[in-house]
Amino acid sequence: MESIRQAVERAKLSAESHGVGASDVYRRHPLTDISPFRSASLSSVELNAAHLQKHRILAHDGKDVAARPFDLLRAEVLRSMDLKGWRILAVTSPTPSCGKTFTALNLAMSIARQADREVCLVDLDFRRPQIATSLGLKSGHGVTSVLEGRSELHNAMVQVRIGSTRLEVMPTTTSVNSSDLSSSLALKKLLQDVAGYERSRITIVDLPPMLAGHDVISILPQIDCVLLVAAVGTTKTSEIEDCKKYLENSDIVRVVLNKVPQSNNTFAYY
Ligand SMILES: Nc1ncnc2c1ncn2[C@@H]1O[C@H](COP(=O)(O)OP(=O)(O)OP(=O)(O)O)[C@@H](O)[C@H]1O
Ligand SMILES: [Mg+2]
Repeated sequence: MESIRQAVERAKLSAESHGVGASDVYRRHPLTDISPFRSASLSSVELNAAHLQKHRILAHDGKDVAARPFDLLRAEVLRSMDLKGWRILAVTSPTPSCGKTFTALNLAMSIARQADREVCLVDLDFRRPQIATSLGLKSGHGVTSVLEGRSELHNAMVQVRIGSTRLEVMPTTTSVNSSDLSSSLALKKLLQDVAGYERSRITIVDLPPMLAGHDVISILPQIDCVLLVAAVGTTKTSEIEDCKKYLENSDIVRVVLNKVPQSNNTFAYY
């Protein structure tokens, strides 16, 4: 099996020969302000508040105390992203179950509450996709159907609503070809299309765990910055250090410490 270091080298070469992240696309078209699709043309789904609560998704309600750490994280992340012109944020962790999907969903909800922002959440965990289940969406078209040429982008994306909060979501189904899909040119194009060209548009990508395979390393050249989620009692310092090695050519926007005991929010970051 290919070593992780070889995969890093392959991903770097691919980035060099295929171009770079979506923000560079923006820089190449600085006067363009046209999304490739409009929310109006997407199918729209009203989310169920009780279902969201069961899955710990609470940041859509700014009055809920559980939204506060995500609002703080939002402020920090967006400040860094705006400063650098970054628009695609990937959420990953060293090992499984650290809370990537929980963090990606709540951060997306928090950003979506801001009237002057658009946010799109994309599930790129082809081994264990959870975005659709967490939101209570029926599985159907998604990222894999676009990558495999079975669906157009706007058919694979859905606008979800809860109260006055709206965001775009692109779920996915599992794929036995996750390594091929993760390193495909089709995925690069999909992310560029989803990100569009508007500065206020933020794309959040929910990734698999970094140390469990090569998928994340293949996707990294297509994203602008990384939010690394670690879980108290699970994540070892050595695993964070291993991730940082693989992320040496990526920008880590924050490291989030999740599942913090004796904390009201069980969530902290630095
Ligand atoms: N801060 C938290 N407090 C309590 N439970 C949490 C917290 N964060 C996540 N969880 C729970 O832990 C489980 C794993 O979370 P989640 O699915 O977000 O992890 P993940 O890193 O995306 O996992 P995977 O590697 O399988 O994709 C879920 O049941 C989630 O509700
Ligand atoms: Mg997950």
